[in-house]
Amino acid sequence: MDFVKVERGDDGIAVLTIDRQEKLNSLNPQVIEEIGQALLELENDQPRVTIVTGAGEKSFIAGADIAVMNEMTPLEAKRFAELGHAATALLDRSPVPTIAAVNGFALGGGCEVALACDIRIAAENALFGFPEVTLGILPGLGGTQRLPRLVGPGVAKEMIFSGRRIKAEEARMINLVNRVVPEGEAFNTARELAEEIASNGPIAVRHAKAAANKAQDVDLVSGLEYEADQFALLFGTEDAREGMGAFIEKRKAEFKGR
Ligand code: COA
Repeated sequence: MDFVKVERGDDGIAVLTIDRQEKLNSLNPQVIEEIGQALLELENDQPRVTIVTGAGEKSFIAGADIAVMNEMTPLEAKRFAELGHAATALLDRSPVPTIAAVNGFALGGGCEVALACDIRIAAENALFGFPEVTLGILPGLGGTQRLPRLVGPGVAKEMIFSGRRIKAEEARMINLVNRVVPEGEAFNTARELAEEIASNGPIAVRHAKAAANKAQDVDLVSGLEYEADQFALLFGTEDAREGMGAFIEKRKAEFKGR
């Protein structure tokens, strides 16, 4: 792969880095395909957590590649949007938690990739926004759907209709990001959080993610039924016996992922 690098650590933490720094990590079709390919490979590897970040200190992803989009026909644009939807859906449906370490610009498609992750950690210099309408187009990689679900329709519409960029701190206030950390620290903080998550029962974390994701899609009664099923399933795992047993025996649990 030319633009996407994946590192898999012994600690169960995978890091997917988008590296097209000369264009501020903007997304052309090849970059999006490579993100998808990397995420598919990670599905087989089964890490405990995946961190997504951009190379360099300046940019997470500065959006879809405007030079490429400028040449697109409507049908090519549709295909491009579908490619983006497929890659972001792989983040959504990743069985393990995904953390976006937003180290700089997260504009347009960059914000959309961050939105498809479970958790967003932003450096204080990060900038978020959907500039698409300033270009005469609209967010086509999931932004019109994921942003309202995360921050509510009014705030989402203001961002999408105005194209205004917001700083990390404002992004935190509207719940677009979980945490703001000093410049240069987004990745380290994401890694610390990933380590914390990776030390927990991995099957429990996966089922907890599936249950929390369900909350987006179904009514409360169905969601609670789903939660009860996921809860029950865990009682058949060695990890649940180990985790609860370790508490009772006043020792640290050693989870095996079984
Ligand atoms: N698509 C294509 N190229 C992009 C890009 C994008 N989304 N974002 C940045 N680049 C390119 C620039 O064209 C420039 O290329 P060049 O050196 O060949 O001229 C290079 O990346 C560096 O960007 P530059 O604009 O010089 O950096 P800057 O620090 O002055 O400005 C931004 C940074 C992010 C404010 C500015 O690049 C920008 O507004 N980018 C577009 C953001 C956007 O609208 N994204 C949503 C697209 S739907």
